Amino acid sequence: MLMLREKIPADWLPKILSNLPAVLVDHAHLERKAATSALNLEKYRDLYHRVKELNAIAIEELQHFQLVLEILKRRGIPFGQPHPSPWITAMMRSIRKGQRVQAIDHLVVFALIEGRSCEKFQMLANALPTIDPELAQFYASLVESEGNHYATYILMAREIDDAEASRRLDYYLDLDAELIRQPNPLPMLH
Ligand SMILES: [Fe+2]
Ligand SMILES: [Fe+2]
Repeated sequence: MLMLREKIPADWLPKILSNLPAVLVDHAHLERKAATSALNLEKYRDLYHRVKELNAIAIEELQHFQLVLEILKRRGIPFGQPHPSPWITAMMRSIRKGQRVQAIDHLVVFALIEGRSCEKFQMLANALPTIDPELAQFYASLVESEGNHYATYILMAREIDDAEASRRLDYYLDLDAELIRQPNPLPMLH
């Protein structure tokens, strides 16, 4: 499905596995932001006819947010402050201005965030069974949904302008490959 051009750095997984409480707080914010991202796409003229589908994604992300909050509560981990992700910030910064190109860039960036989440949740589902079986199962349960969001956003971008969506996907896959190599010592999913 997703043709990512760079592997997740080898130090990412050990960093995450040794900081699970902080990762869960970061994950909660990630799902909250995913819900608002879906709603933000509804401002584009080219996506007015997709409002119902985007609402459905927003609701699904809110449900994910709620599930992470419940895990935090059960484990006595306080919901805390979000840390901005350098990777997401840099990807978002290169979104061009202008109705149509902005909508395409936004969709492609959100697709890659969903795609990377899908990939990382799968890695966690594989790594966690002996360490934390509840979380292993939880991450496995999210993989399909985030993968579907990736595919939906790519299809929406292609529907607006197929050639331009391909060009921008090519551009953002290169950018993602460059950014993902940059070290981030914080225990964050992205
Ligand atoms: Fe989600
Ligand atoms: Fe998602």
